[in-house]
Amino acid sequence: MSKQLPNASDFLPGPVLLLGAPGVGKGTQAKRLMEEFGIPQISTGDILRAIKNDPAKANTLVGSKAKALMDVGSLVPDDLVNSLVADRLAEPDTQHGYILDGFPRTLIQAEWLDRQLVAYLLPVVAVNIVVPEQVLLERITGRRISPAGRIYNIYTNPPKTEGVCDVDGSKLEQRTDDTEEVFHKRMREFRENTAAVIEYYREHGNRFAEVNGDHHIDEVTRDIRSTLLKLRHHPEA
Ligand code: AP5
Ligand code: MG
Repeated sequence: MSKQLPNASDFLPGPVLLLGAPGVGKGTQAKRLMEEFGIPQISTGDILRAIKNDPAKANTLVGSKAKALMDVGSLVPDDLVNSLVADRLAEPDTQHGYILDGFPRTLIQAEWLDRQLVAYLLPVVAVNIVVPEQVLLERITGRRISPAGRIYNIYTNPPKTEGVCDVDGSKLEQRTDDTEEVFHKRMREFRENTAAVIEYYREHGNRFAEVNGDHHIDEVTRDIRSTLLKLRHHPEA
């Protein structure tokens, strides 16, 4: 029988990494955990998209580099991403934990993060979400997002009214990198760079777990929550 899970008031997960290939559900799950536990989601993809889509920043060196690389599915340079994460981690809302979504993506980023976290109250825990590659293409090409970052899918998680956000009525859009061609490039980057990051965390077995992301969104959320309790040795786990 499943146990009653604690709520935000009696469990803080500390620093959490959500790892996995493009489209496994990192953003979808990070937003749910953020609401539940009251800790921020830090998505490097979202931070970079905000820069490249901001008219005041799009033509800066960072903005133009982000656009050129993201639109073709290549990784943005480690130094640039690390410095964006450093700025975000310096904000006060990260004190009791946060969910890093899509970072680290290279071994250089993972080692950099280890150095940042030496003084942190809790060691990082990593959850790898796993979904078969043939399922991911439909998730990517069917994804639609609201300007505020709410995530839908025309096949698996549609809005109540086509093309319109359920929450604020805004018009849904497609990410410029959500094409079949760019998806394949992102998968290559994942295999060449990020797969090694997953093995890096797997070596710390007591701080790493895998969750099957090829289930209903609610079921994946339940699995990640109970996984976090176990990784944090919570008495109710
Ligand atoms: P980023 O934005 O991080 O893209 P990604 O890793 O390719 O991951 P996605 O956002 O596509 O997928 P997701 O796992 O968040 O899935 P989602 O929840 O949306 O990065 C974009 C680019 O930025 C990179 O290519 C790179 O250029 C750059 N970048 C970012 N971070 C970087 C870094 N650290 N270093 C260097 N460069 C970096 O779900 C996907 C779809 O599936 C949605 O439609 C959703 O509704 C649906 N869905 C979710 N869960 C389920 C489910 N259980 N069942 C059915 N449908 C589901
Ligand atoms: Mg995402």
